[in-house]
Amino acid sequence: MNICRTSVLAGLCVLVAGWAHAQPAIFKDADYKLGEKLIADSKCVACHVSKVGGDGSAIYKPQGRINTAAFLRGMVEQCNTELNLGMFPEDVSAVAAVLNRDHYKFK
Ligand code: HEC
Repeated sequence: MNICRTSVLAGLCVLVAGWAHAQPAIFKDADYKLGEKLIADSKCVACHVSKVGGDGSAIYKPQGRINTAAFLRGMVEQCNTELNLGMFPEDVSAVAAVLNRDHYKFK
């Protein structure tokens, strides 16, 4: 946003950016850097790409059966168990928080 480069508006833009990244309470303490790393390291994307093609993000269906932040976290937990990824609860939250921020956008 070029308009953000003008100092008068910078404060406002930070505020708006903050709103845009508002996340549900269950992801309040999530570690986004960790989540991004886990998604990259856990072959999530590679496998999703093999299923749906493209960049794999078509597997995430915000309008589908997953319809709350808690449900999304539960889905990641289930993948963790089924795929034997050995993620800790805070890892699961971090991954779900990143998916929510980038794809599902639950409030
Ligand atoms: C071995 C393949 C494979 C791996 C690895 C994998 N997934 Fe998936 N994932 C799938 C398939 C297949 C589906 C679609 C299942 C369905 O629609 O019932 C899916 C669906 C999902 C969904 C639900 C999408 C939606 O909106 O319905 C989420 C969330 C998800 N995966 C997260 C992850 C995460 C996070 C990881 C890595 C930690 C991961 N998956 C690793 C195969 C995989």
